[in-house]
Amino acid sequence: MINIPKGTKDVLPNESYKWQYVEKIMRDISKAYNVREIRTPVFEHTELFSRSIGDGTDVVSKEMYTFLDKGGRSITLRPEGTASVARSYVENNLESLSLPLKMYYMISAFRYERPQAGRLREFHQYGVEYYGAQSVYLDFEAISLAHDILKGLGLKGILLKINSLGCPECRKKYVEALKEYYLKHLGEVCDTCKDRFNKNPLRLLDCKSPICKGIASNAPRIQDYLCDDCKDYHEKLCGLLKSEGIPFENDPGIVRGLDYYTRTVFEFVTSELGAQGTVCGGGRYDNLVSDIGGKSVGCVGFAMGIERLIMLLEEQNAFSAELGPDCFVICQNEECIRNGLRVASELRKAGYSVDCELTGKSMKAQFKYADKIKATFAVVIGEEELNKGTAKVKKLSDGIETECRIEDLAQHISKRK
Ligand code: HAM
Repeated sequence: MINIPKGTKDVLPNESYKWQYVEKIMRDISKAYNVREIRTPVFEHTELFSRSIGDGTDVVSKEMYTFLDKGGRSITLRPEGTASVARSYVENNLESLSLPLKMYYMISAFRYERPQAGRLREFHQYGVEYYGAQSVYLDFEAISLAHDILKGLGLKGILLKINSLGCPECRKKYVEALKEYYLKHLGEVCDTCKDRFNKNPLRLLDCKSPICKGIASNAPRIQDYLCDDCKDYHEKLCGLLKSEGIPFENDPGIVRGLDYYTRTVFEFVTSELGAQGTVCGGGRYDNLVSDIGGKSVGCVGFAMGIERLIMLLEEQNAFSAELGPDCFVICQNEECIRNGLRVASELRKAGYSVDCELTGKSMKAQFKYADKIKATFAVVIGEEELNKGTAKVKKLSDGIETECRIEDLAQHISKRK
C-alpha cells in the first residue's frame, strides 16, 4: 500500500462539491469586478522566488520544493502565485495592455511546512493581483473584492486587519529602531526570533510565543516612523474603508511573511481555526516588477487559502447538503437497460442530471441506491412498461408514482418537480 505524501490531501467525490461551491463564488465575484483569470506553470526557475519573496523569508530559506531538473536547472514548485504572475507580466509584455490590469488565479502551491490542521504542504489559493498604479483606490478595490468573497461565502466572524509597512526609506529607519529595541531583549526571545533578528526583523513582531508577544507589544510602532506620503496614503485607505462600510482594525503586528510588500498590508483572520486563523493575506508591492527586470509599476493583491475557507465553512455549518441527480433510471433487465440508457440520454438532453442502472442490481437494490444517491425521481423501465412504451415516475420524497409515455418523460417530470 502506497500512502499519500505527508501534508497533502485528496478531495474525495463526496466533498468536491464544497470546493466547486467555493470556487464558483470566487469566479463569479471576480467576474463582477472584471478581474480575469491568469494561469502560470506549477514550477518556475528557483531564482524567481528567491529574488521576489526574499532569501531571508521562511518560505525561501526553509520551505521550497527545489530540485535540479534533468538539464541541471534549479527548479522550484511555486510556493505562491504573486511572483509567477509578475514574471508572466514582464515576459509577456502585459504592460503594453491598458492598465490597470486585474488578474486572478486558482492554484495549488507547495511549501515544506510542518503539517497541521489548516497547514499543508500542498495547498490551494485563490489569488488576485491588480497592476497599474500607486493609487489607494486599487488597494481599496482589492480589499473590497476579498471582503465580498468572504461575505458571499456566508462566513461569519472574520476580521480585517490592516497595517502599513511604509516605503523602503521609512521602513529602513523603522527597522533600525526595531533592531535597537530588540538588541536589549535578544536574551529573552525564542530561537526563531534570534534568527529573525538578523534575517527578517519585521517578523519579530508576529511571533506566536507568549514571551515574544509580550516583547513585541512594547516594540516601536511603524506608524510612528512612516513618512508623510506613506502616512497620508494609509489614512486615505482607512477613510475609504470606513466610508464604504468595510469594518477593519489597524494592527501593527501585521507584517506578512514575504519581503516584497510596500505600504499597505492586510489579513482577514478568524479565531475559529486555532493557529492557522489567517484565511486571506495580501498587500501592495510596488517594487516587485522592477526587481525582476520589468518597468516599475504599482501593484496590490491578496491570496486566500481554500482549505482554510472550507474548514471554516464546515465549522460554521455553512454548506447545504449536496444535491443528488434529478433522476435515477431503474431497469428490470438487460433489455430494459438498453432502453434505459436511451431514456437517460434524452433526459440529459432536456437538461436533467440523470444516473442510470449499469451494474445488474435487483430492482429493490436499485431503489435503495436511488435513495442513497439522493435522486429526486426514480424513472422505472420494466418489461411491462416497455411493452406499452411507458415508464413509471416515482418521486422518492413522497413515494407518489405516476406513469407516462416514454417520449413525454421530460415534460412529465418538469410538471412534477
Ligand atoms: P500568504 O500569506 O503566504 O501570501 O498566503 C496566503 C494565504 O494562503 C494564507 O493566508 C493562507 O490562508 C494560505 N496558506 C498559506 N500557506 C498555507 C499552507 N501551508 N497551508 C494551507 N494554507 C496556506 C501569499 O501567498 C501572497 N502571494 C499573497 C499575495 C498576493 N500578496 C499579494 N498578492
